[in-house]
Amino acid sequence: MSQDRTLNNAELLSVLDWYRAAGVDLAIGEEPVDRFAQQPPAPTGMPQRAAPPPPSPVPQATGPVGGDPGEARRLAGTAASLDELQKTLNDYTGCGLKFRATQLVFADGNPKARIMLIGEAPGAEEDRQGKPFVGRSGQLLDRMLAAIGLDRSLVYIANTVPWRPPGNRAPTPEELELCLPFLHRQVELVAPRLVMTLGGPAMQTVFNSTNGIIKMRGKWENVAIGSHEVDAIPTLHPAYLLRNPVAKQQAWRDLLSLRAKAESLGLV
Ligand code: URA
Repeated sequence: MSQDRTLNNAELLSVLDWYRAAGVDLAIGEEPVDRFAQQPPAPTGMPQRAAPPPPSPVPQATGPVGGDPGEARRLAGTAASLDELQKTLNDYTGCGLKFRATQLVFADGNPKARIMLIGEAPGAEEDRQGKPFVGRSGQLLDRMLAAIGLDRSLVYIANTVPWRPPGNRAPTPEELELCLPFLHRQVELVAPRLVMTLGGPAMQTVFNSTNGIIKMRGKWENVAIGSHEVDAIPTLHPAYLLRNPVAKQQAWRDLLSLRAKAESLGLV
């Protein structure tokens, strides 16, 4: 028997729960596509190269679209402490990423640390645990920190966006714009002496640059993050290092540079 009525919110949520329990965490289209039912093109005289499949739609967040960056700046600016900022972000509904994520991934580490690490966006494990860098790349990040005598009690870790983008896609420029005032405020409140960005997108956001990470990594720059001026160095993302182990030697140089700078400032 078919059911034509529209599902209410509680029913929709239980459908989502059911999908999640079944291991589905990525929707790539509004309608299911039966690929077996699709007819191959009729052969013509000459052998033809198969037409490329239509691009799969990039999963988008559901929820409000066209959030107001001015409102995000106003809200972020009202937070007088990290706890308040976390609460403000928890209540914030302007960025659609929130509606597809399990929870806010605000930060990890020591809020009093003088060194701050900024990554791109939470992945699946971070989304589950509500903490940045707790998946495979986080384990490598811990080993990288340990190699220069640091650990999470000596650094503070956040991301450019605090919700997992669906299917681990990159955050859109609109999503970044809506989340940036909150990152700025987070940096202002932590007021680190040194910042290390992890990966190209975080570098581009923090350094306001369109350059690639390979060109930028390893170079210190004094940058303004919100109203906080700080020396920052970009390095390669641990997820990239997992895929390209030979690049670890470059990341190692950047880590040594971070350690040397921290020592010269008496931070470690
Ligand atoms: N990659 C990131 O950039 N951030 C995380 O928190 C996890 C993986």
